[in-house]
Amino acid sequence: EMLPLLNHPALHYIVEEALQSSVYQFICITSRGKSSIEDYFDSCPELRSRLKEHQQEDLIADIEKIIRSSQFTYIRQADQLGLGHAVWLARHSIQKEYFGIMLPDDIIQGKTPALEQLIRIARQEKATIIAVQEVPSECISSYGIVDIKKQITPHLFQVSNLVEKPDIKEAPSNLAIVGRYIMSHKIFSALEEMQTYSVGENLELTDAINNMIQNNEKVFAYKIQGIRYDIGTPVGWVKAIIGLALQHPHFTAPIKRFLAERETQGSFLYNSSKNIEHSV
Ligand code: G1P
Repeated sequence: EMLPLLNHPALHYIVEEALQSSVYQFICITSRGKSSIEDYFDSCPELRSRLKEHQQEDLIADIEKIIRSSQFTYIRQADQLGLGHAVWLARHSIQKEYFGIMLPDDIIQGKTPALEQLIRIARQEKATIIAVQEVPSECISSYGIVDIKKQITPHLFQVSNLVEKPDIKEAPSNLAIVGRYIMSHKIFSALEEMQTYSVGENLELTDAINNMIQNNEKVFAYKIQGIRYDIGTPVGWVKAIIGLALQHPHFTAPIKRFLAERETQGSFLYNSSKNIEHSV
């Protein structure tokens, strides 16, 4: 979550997506060694005065804007017991209301922020909404996959069941959960119930959502519009940097130039075995 993407850490983009969706309160589930997150979303007078000396205050304008408009709470997860467990830790901070879950290794760039897309549907359906995208079959076993009960519109589906990282042969569809959810507070009683059966074991969010469905809670999957980058892999991380650069007014031109130059040099290297050996 603190890996740099272009000129900000990944989490900065996640928080900006939330702010653009009119969400201003954040509960970050962190753990040992992640105190840089708290420091990042805090003002730093020493840095500010140094930048002021060099007339470079604009470099921290973006982050200062976030600090002024948002409120952050941090909860430490002592044992890594799964996504469900991380969500369960936030139970005391959330009243009987809908809330969003954002997984920071999924960066989503769209005309309408992904979270905003889900909020609109959650308001309309008054129910839990999960963001999904179609994935190629070879990637299915890396995701939670949705079993569809009913298609409501080209983008909206009622869910009958979720299967966490199935074998391709057992996958009920190619609709994969991507890291955004709008969740009913009822998830906490589902997690509580599951917790009693799985003491010390991983608590999956998908299992708790299934538990909610079995208790007659409506759950929908919404095919979000936008480009998603999985920055949990080296290739996904590099793609995210290039993709973000190509949308940024200051970086588009030099990055396009660089890619075009690489293309030419790349084919030159490819055609010359001597050069390939040399460069290796
Ligand atoms: C988590 C969820 C999974 C979802 C994925 C999206 O898995 O458990 O259902 O598809 O995020 O990124 P993780 O990637 O944490 O293993």
